[in-house]
Amino acid sequence: MKFRGCKGRYLVLMRTFFMFIVTSIPPARSPLCMQVIQTISDLRQALDKVRAAGKKICLVPTMGCLHAGHLSLIKRARAEADYTVVSIFVNPTQFGPNEDFSKYPRTFEADRDACSKASVDLIFAPTVEEFYPKNANTWVDVEKVTTGLCGAFRPGHFRGVSTVVAMLFNVIQPTCAVFGRKDLQQCVVIKQMVHDLHMPVKVIIDETVREPNGLALSSRNRYLTPEELQKATAIPAACKVAQELVQKGETNPILIEKAAFKRLTLDASLRVQYLKVVHRETLSEVTKILPGECVLALACYLGNTRLIDNVDL
Ligand code: PAF
Repeated sequence: MKFRGCKGRYLVLMRTFFMFIVTSIPPARSPLCMQVIQTISDLRQALDKVRAAGKKICLVPTMGCLHAGHLSLIKRARAEADYTVVSIFVNPTQFGPNEDFSKYPRTFEADRDACSKASVDLIFAPTVEEFYPKNANTWVDVEKVTTGLCGAFRPGHFRGVSTVVAMLFNVIQPTCAVFGRKDLQQCVVIKQMVHDLHMPVKVIIDETVREPNGLALSSRNRYLTPEELQKATAIPAACKVAQELVQKGETNPILIEKAAFKRLTLDASLRVQYLKVVHRETLSEVTKILPGECVLALACYLGNTRLIDNVDL
């Protein structure tokens, strides 16, 4: 009897201890919590419920191959709203005929795991056939801010970007959307589109995330060989040259461009496509540096890989 009583008390104690442990552990976020949706009808159904619950949705549009830069956008989105949607869609209409659409890295499994770890609520990953209706004939074409910089060398690129982002905004209806500052011209184009078409979306621009050596993170960095990665550090070095000149009082954009160009091309294997001092909001060329209003923007090739960057002056 005595033995059984002891055992009973021991079991009750163990049960209480077990219940304490179970209830005091915060619920782990199961990957099952994150929805992965491929069709527009499923997406609308899921997001109608989210909106009906009074939640604000923030979108992070991506083409996948997620890196720490994207994770920073996701973190920002989570801070801005109650529900985070990441779109993963390699958009064919923003690639030129001789660009890297077919070889653009597609890493869906790794992207899904990274999103799940980053507490994303929903991934929207449609196929091209699902997202672009057959015989689609409508474009969103933003003028002026698309003519210079990358726009001058990638005809049709920004038309593809603004069209796909407008489509994402239409089907997701987010309250806000987060874009990376590395793609400065893209940010300006999206802001212009939202402004001109009265889209009820707050556009948030998140700072560029860089490697310790200053190289801006990009999905295309994975095309670079270790040797090219080393050579690519000339990009942040050229940006620094420009910033230091401005800090010393230089206000002539031509002299700043010349000095940055010289640093960028110290190694002959780096081919500059453009390097320009422009106004950070209009992207138009300036005749004098006005601190806080200008940026240095550049694009260059290392082998077949095109890299872009920009910094405040
Ligand atoms: O920046 C990108 O990854 C793309 O241009 C975007 C905004 C997802 C549109 O396809």
